[in-house]
Amino acid sequence: MGNQRYSYIVFRCVIMSAIVLLHCTTTSTVVARPPDKGKGRWQLLRNSTGVVAMHMALTHRNTVIMFDQTGSGPSQYPLRRRYNGTRCKATHHDQSDSSCYAHSIEYNILSNGIRSLNIETDTWCSSGSILGNGTLLQTGGYGAGYRRIRYYEPCRHCNWRQSKELLSTDRWYASNLVLPEKDRVIVVGGRGTFSYEFVPKSSHRDKTFDLPLLHRTYDRKVKGNNLYPFLHLSSDGNVFIFANRDSILLDYKRHRVVKTFPRIPGDAPRSYPSTASSVILPLDHRDGFKTVEVMVCGGAASGAYTAAKEGKFLEGSRTCGRMVISGINVVDLEILSVITGNKHKWSMEEMPGPRLMNDMLILPTGDILIINGVKRGCAGWNSAASPSLQPYLYKPNKKHGKRFSILKSTKIARMYHSSAILLPDGRVLVAGGNPNNKYALSDVPYPTELRLQAFVPLHMDRKFDKTRPQNVSVYYGGGRGVGYGAEFGVNFWLRRKPVNVKFSVYKPPFTTHSLSMNQRMVVLECKNMTRGKGGWVNALLKAPPSANTAPAGYYMLTVVNGGIPSISQWVRFMHA
Ligand SMILES: *[C@@H]1O[C@H](CO)[C@@H](O)[C@H](O)[C@H]1NC(C)=O
Ligand SMILES: *[C@@H]1O[C@H](CO)[C@@H](O)[C@H](O)[C@H]1NC(C)=O
Ligand SMILES: *[C@@H]1O[C@H](CO)[C@@H](O)[C@H](O)[C@H]1NC(C)=O
Ligand SMILES: *[C@@H]1O[C@H](CO)[C@@H](O)[C@H](O)[C@H]1NC(C)=O
Ligand SMILES: *[C@@H]1O[C@H](CO)[C@@H](O)[C@H](O)[C@H]1NC(C)=O
Repeated sequence: MGNQRYSYIVFRCVIMSAIVLLHCTTTSTVVARPPDKGKGRWQLLRNSTGVVAMHMALTHRNTVIMFDQTGSGPSQYPLRRRYNGTRCKATHHDQSDSSCYAHSIEYNILSNGIRSLNIETDTWCSSGSILGNGTLLQTGGYGAGYRRIRYYEPCRHCNWRQSKELLSTDRWYASNLVLPEKDRVIVVGGRGTFSYEFVPKSSHRDKTFDLPLLHRTYDRKVKGNNLYPFLHLSSDGNVFIFANRDSILLDYKRHRVVKTFPRIPGDAPRSYPSTASSVILPLDHRDGFKTVEVMVCGGAASGAYTAAKEGKFLEGSRTCGRMVISGINVVDLEILSVITGNKHKWSMEEMPGPRLMNDMLILPTGDILIINGVKRGCAGWNSAASPSLQPYLYKPNKKHGKRFSILKSTKIARMYHSSAILLPDGRVLVAGGNPNNKYALSDVPYPTELRLQAFVPLHMDRKFDKTRPQNVSVYYGGGRGVGYGAEFGVNFWLRRKPVNVKFSVYKPPFTTHSLSMNQRMVVLECKNMTRGKGGWVNALLKAPPSANTAPAGYYMLTVVNGGIPSISQWVRFMHA
């Protein structure tokens, strides 16, 4: 896209008469003040999306795919025809027939418009990943959807496509992670499913692989607390898996647990239906992407599920745990930990309030936004109360105890089955919420929520435009993307001298049930940066060294100057 524009910008940079050479990370006497007590603001984008955004994913074509379950009956998006072509009539039968309503939509960020998409089998509580070419892969669901694999290729008239191959076993409430290998995804867990499998399979012999972690973290009383496990790809190529309160590092190629981490402190379970949230903190070139740290925040109180069945909603956890999962390069730490004690340790801290069913997003600044969810209860139909209307901002690099701040409240409850994603323009899209089995717009404590909002973080405010890098464009010679370890160029315009410029790339997640599957930020090395008199800056960046650091695909590249991020541009990293 826009190759002519890139060459024009490159041309401009070349002809600039006076070129000032800069270190990539410059400090200057003009100290820009990053917004600290940032509150932000809310926008109402649409009164209805027609369909509950139980699942949400951003595509590199700047559209957002949203979908619900098909078994929820009539949505608020009636169709003239069913997807098999038969007409939907005004009869009582058709008006209550689920197939006469959309259950998935595509939202266009620029036009604020929606169009309906076709889902054939039930996607209830499923999982997904965006593959290297930008295609959305979605796995599992319910009923006829238990073993389904579906693809959505982002384009103007594209629609969901259900593949002929099936998963090896039912995957309802499973998680999904893109692996470093080309377009391979691992699908982990599910209700009554204590195993993982790959899509596509590495050979026709590979089916499912038993995962003892899921057996031992299963809470029988709750039929879960180990569902929707948190998955993160470590930069050594192993997969971090967290369920309930326990976690491991899995060498998925050899099917070996290479590390067993200590249990997170406190008695609050963290996985569905206790539903905390988790992120992998930004990886940084300054240590060769070696330090990998994960964070888990919130969750239900122990016993919340049983209490909710009796109409009592217990206060959720207010704790977050952070743990470095990299380092200590020992082959079998499970044995070693008995001898020496496990070196990995959770560092605990407290959020400003109790919270569960919260989404956690990495903002372009590298800070973590905690948004949506509730203060009491657990996940499930009518199982929670007291919506958490205030987002929290967490600054991972500040001193312990000084990291949280409270942001601007919304008036809209975002309970069970709500979601949030980061947009390229720096806003956070917030949608969905439905603790009712069917669409219920009134006469229930928490009606089905179809309003679409954006949270605008303070750093996107116009008053920071003087500091904000403008007109960012990415360029690389030929090809469809940037190879691992290769150098590529970024151009932008800055009114003033650069102050502590950082370049990050962000892999947009597939979001559902408070998990942002595959969300990842990588801070890239800048090899050279020059600024011309006109204010145009030309930076030479180094792509991530391998797919272990950044699995192939489209990333949002952001230039951050003095704590103020630009609008993001897409860059694709790919295998040679
Ligand atoms: C939503 O509905 C209200 C009340 O009808 C109306 O005032 C408002 O303009 C609508 N907002 C949008 C974004 O459509
Ligand atoms: C179309 O779908 C509806 C609802 O699932 C079904 O009742 C009907 O038989 C289908 N018609 C055809 C021609 O496939
Ligand atoms: C993208 O990749 C997927 C998985 O490898 C494949 O099924 C699909 O056809 C590809 N799409 C394009 C446009 O190449
Ligand atoms: C930057 O882009 C905007 C449009 O997005 C354009 O109006 C403006 O002139 C550009 N600035 C420069 C310095 O080229
Ligand atoms: C940085 O870029 C400038 C302008 O293109 C060039 O003159 C200079 O040699 C480069 N420096 C390095 C270290 O590559």
